[in-house]
Formats: sequence, C-alpha cells, structure tokens
Amino acid sequence: MTAPLLETRNLTIQFGGLVALNDVSLSLNHSEVLCIIGPNGAGKSTLFNLISGIYQPTRGSVHLEGRDITGKQAHRIAERGIARTFQSSRLFNDLTLLDNVLIGMHTQTRAGVLDALLRPRKAKAELDQAAERAGDLLHDISPELYARRHSLAGALPQADRRRLEIARALASEPKIIMLDEPSSGMDDRDTDALMADVRRVMAERPGLSFLIIEHDMRLVAALPDRVAVIDYGRKIADGDFAEVRLMPRVQEAYLGQKAAAHA
Ligand SMILES: Nc1ncnc2c1ncn2[C@@H]1O[C@H](COP(=O)(O)OP(=O)(O)O)[C@@H](O)[C@H]1O
Ligand SMILES: [Mg+2]
Repeated sequence: MTAPLLETRNLTIQFGGLVALNDVSLSLNHSEVLCIIGPNGAGKSTLFNLISGIYQPTRGSVHLEGRDITGKQAHRIAERGIARTFQSSRLFNDLTLLDNVLIGMHTQTRAGVLDALLRPRKAKAELDQAAERAGDLLHDISPELYARRHSLAGALPQADRRRLEIARALASEPKIIMLDEPSSGMDDRDTDALMADVRRVMAERPGLSFLIIEHDMRLVAALPDRVAVIDYGRKIADGDFAEVRLMPRVQEAYLGQKAAAHA
C-alpha cells in the first residue's frame, strides 16, 4: 500500500488554555478533493496553518508522501508542493495581477540575486519566461483576468480576487492546494462561477489534490469526494457528504451554531 499524499497524525495545538486542534488524524489521497467543514472557531484554519508550517503543533505530525514534514518552515513546505490561499485575501494590492501571480512562482524560478548580477541576460530570460507562464496561468483561470493583467490587484472585485489568489497558488505547481473559505463574501452566482473554475482546474490537472474549508453547503454538496467535520478542535466525522450530513453529532454541531447565532 502506498502512503497517502498528505496525512496528519494526532495533530494537536494548544494556545494557552485553549486546545484549538485536538488529536486530528486525516488523510488526503492523490487527485482527491476533501472539504473541511465545521462551525466557526472549530479549528479549521488552524489545521491549515499547521499543515502549511505557519504554526508548530504541540503534538502529532504531518506527512507528505510518507515523509515527515512536521516543524519545517512554511517556505520549505510550499517548495515541497503545498500551496494555499488565506481566509482573508492576501494579494499585493499595489502590484499588477501578473506580478501577483509571478510572486507565487518564486519557488520555481532558479535565477537568484547572484545570477541576476553575474548573468543578467540569463536572469532576464528566465524572468521573461516566468512572466509568460504567469500570463498563461491567468488566462487559464479567466480570460478577463488576463486582459486586465497589467492593472493593479487592488482594483479587483471580490470574486476576481479569489480567482487571482487561486492562480497564484497554482503558479508554484503544487501537489496540493488548500483553499480557506474560497466562497466567503460571494453571492450564489459568484459561488457557482467559482465552483466551475475549480472544476476546470481539477480537470486540467488530474494529479492535483484539494483541501477546501467551506461553509457554503451547496458547494460542499457538489464539489468534494469526501468531507471531514471539525467541531471544538476534534474531527467528529469523515466520509461521504450524503452520509456525514445525517450524523447526529454533525447536526448537533451545526444546530449549536445556529442556536448561538440566534441567541
Ligand atoms: N494564533 C492564535 N492564538 C490564539 N488562539 C488562536 C490562534 N489561532 C487560532 N486561535 C483560536 O483557535 C480557535 C480556532 O480558530 P480557527 O482555526 O481560526 O477556527 P475556524 O474553524 O473558524 O477556522 C479559535 O478559538 C481561535 O480564536
Ligand atoms: Mg477559519
């Protein structure tokens, strides 16, 4: 049996007295789409921060293709093929769309500062090549974004910001892409368009796997192969959405949230 693409084992992190993630073991296979769902504050983004090396676990481990990557620096983990977007957008508003995508490519371009000084022509050629690839990628995600590639990211509407962030994450040619609430702040129409985009990206990159934190149940019902539910830092369910959604523990977790929202 080959190792899963990504695996967390008993992943736990404590902030002071709060155990934000508690003993979470889950796995993601090659070409799989796994949605992480659960109430606000359940620990979903914390899970992403642990996988991507932004937080260090108190206990437990993270394995990529069977190799222990626990405690590695975030840029090392990105280099090994885990790309992500953040819950709140982290684009460079004062840079062009094209430059935002180019930044995502940094792990892929070889020419460093020294190269640029010693072999300026070679460095320039590499940069031109990277810019061309960045342009292709933008076009791939959306011809409209490509048409606006030289305008500033700060001017984009919310749905296009998300698209641009996904393009930037794809620029590093990852094995896994983690999206933290990609549909947040979007209406149904934009969410549908986003879903179509994600589906197209999947179809064009058959090996790529997705970890998606999502609260829009239409998307959760339609997109993933599998769903894992986190509540109060613990994984309380893992499986087909059709089955998981009927589990009493899952319904309680969501009812609890509704009750709190109406209180
Ligand atoms: N760096 C941090 N320091 C202290 N508490 C944190 C930190 N990051 C997250 N938390 C807490 O961990 C819990 C889970 O947060 P989070 O993972 O963001 O939840 P969500 O499931 O909504 O993404 C929350 O109570 C949050 O306040
Ligand atoms: Mg979150």
